[in-house]
Amino acid sequence: MKIVDAAWLPSEAWRPIGSRRVRVTGSGALVDTVRDEIRAAGGSLDPDGDLVFTLGGDPDRLGEEGFEVDGDVVRAAAPHGLLHGLFHMLRGGTAGTQKPALARRMLDHWDNVDVHPVMGQVERGYSGGSLFWQDGEPRRDLTRVRAYARLLAASGINAVALNNVNVHATEAHLLTDRLGEVAELAGVFRRYGIRVHLSVSFAAPVHHGLGTADPLEDEVREWWSKATANVYATIPDFGGYLVKADSEGQPGPFSYGRSHADGANLLAAALAQYGGVVHWRAFVYNHRQDWRDRSVDRARAAYDHFTPLDGTFADNVVLQVKHGPLDFQPREPVSPLITALPGTRLAVEFQVTQEYTGQQRHVCYLAPMWSELLRGTGGPAIAEHAAELVAVANTGDDPFWTGHPLAQANLYAFGRLAWDPAADPLAVLDEWITLTFPAAPGLLRDTLHEIMDGSWRSYERYTAPLGVGFMVRPGHHYGPDVDGYEYTPWGTYHFADRDGVGVDRTVATGTGFAGQYPSPWSQTYESPGSCPDELALFFHHLPYGHVLHSGRTVIQHIYDTHFAGAREAAAMREAWRRVSGVVALDRYERVAALLDEQVRSAEEWRDQVNAYFFRKSGVPDWEGRRIY
Ligand code: GCU
Repeated sequence: MKIVDAAWLPSEAWRPIGSRRVRVTGSGALVDTVRDEIRAAGGSLDPDGDLVFTLGGDPDRLGEEGFEVDGDVVRAAAPHGLLHGLFHMLRGGTAGTQKPALARRMLDHWDNVDVHPVMGQVERGYSGGSLFWQDGEPRRDLTRVRAYARLLAASGINAVALNNVNVHATEAHLLTDRLGEVAELAGVFRRYGIRVHLSVSFAAPVHHGLGTADPLEDEVREWWSKATANVYATIPDFGGYLVKADSEGQPGPFSYGRSHADGANLLAAALAQYGGVVHWRAFVYNHRQDWRDRSVDRARAAYDHFTPLDGTFADNVVLQVKHGPLDFQPREPVSPLITALPGTRLAVEFQVTQEYTGQQRHVCYLAPMWSELLRGTGGPAIAEHAAELVAVANTGDDPFWTGHPLAQANLYAFGRLAWDPAADPLAVLDEWITLTFPAAPGLLRDTLHEIMDGSWRSYERYTAPLGVGFMVRPGHHYGPDVDGYEYTPWGTYHFADRDGVGVDRTVATGTGFAGQYPSPWSQTYESPGSCPDELALFFHHLPYGHVLHSGRTVIQHIYDTHFAGAREAAAMREAWRRVSGVVALDRYERVAALLDEQVRSAEEWRDQVNAYFFRKSGVPDWEGRRIY
């Protein structure tokens, strides 16, 4: 088994550079990184080289990270741009100017230092333990972290938060007496232009002996200001704090009768003089709901909490909003909060880790979903509102980094779409294939496209129907359990009964959530006549006989898509068998074993969902297929 899989930076991918004489001009740490990379690739650094990497580009046009390619000359205004230019040359180096659409492109790790008794070391991690900590201690050998930083830089990422947003007792010390560990990791990431951020607990002052964490108390301000001064004395380019407050049991300003603006601005004030930012998460909702109270709708919560605060956050607060109003389901509308914060700096959060999309046991290439959300297919366009993109990472100490070797494509694609939200997700996949399998014969390329291009839609077909969401097993969220959350207080109901299914979120008769959207989307979603089929049950409680735009009834749609989805999973497995002998054996076998599990799980989903709705509705499948 390989210790470090080369992922999208195998040595063969470096041939376009390794075979050249290269001139690199300029100085600075990241210019040195460019030189080191060229040397490591076998390229010769030569003042007369004909492939040129040089500073001197127009800073107004290129910014810190942009670059331009003109024949064999790559020009940037700053060293970071030169590093991006280097990786661009690996991708084929098309001529012209490139610069990121979004200034910060960030990965949030949900790593714990210790192994958490329920969540494991990496919360919602499906790729083994943490890359950063082992047995409660920092890893001594940072070789893998270095390789990881290179991979991230080559995909366009420029910031990482190291630890879980749920900050447990041990991890609270990363901000203070364990800061040295953070500094060491920051040193590794710095070499690749990536800044390090930390998740902090709002109650950190209390954890460290103060009687209160009230954001309006002077002693609390002083505590944060001292702690932050110490952080910057140790890590001068530290990125900032990430905070999950008043959410799923995490402490926050509500305990002191203060607002989230009071809370966020407290930390922002401590960071401002150093240029640091607070990523303040908007994932605030009541997870102790009573299903009888139909006026409470978890989907409404973020908007209800945060729109009144628009314009009151300090300049260095970034409100971090999940892309959908619920929780990273395979299909959700864009969160309306994203459209409602003209006076607030906004980061939108995606989930590269596949908590609800097959947990890296299923192939589920997510970039087509992200692309629809970014571009606004069937809803508001995230790219028009977000200043930053953030995603929960899917990596760990697994030899393939991401558990499922094909899940590497999600990590790569997230970075590329954050750089250019208009990029075609299938072209990005093709780019990933070319880099990862440089010798890929046509058969492998075609097979990977066949398996991956439509894999998100296949996954959607065999799981919860028509945008209603969840139906996963409680706790770990893998596999089907239609009523798993139906009788719990988490607020993720589908309300299926003998007559129909779905959540009435209309203004006219439901929770009013549809009215949180700007026009025309509020009207589009309000009526089943105009609501896209994919979201029909997200917005409406519909009778089983309701006819969708597709011409099928809701119940027949459920049967058809579940049979189709499971069939598509089986076809993926067949396709992969064709490339036996074409990819390295360890990778082949890992994917083959996971596809067996995907087929099993897809059939389980098919049978449970179909049987459930057949028994609820009593309506037979008009094709007469077997329903258990
Ligand atoms: C989901 C996930 C949790 C996570 C939370 C969050 O609810 O299941 O593990 O902590 O999201 O984003 O904060």
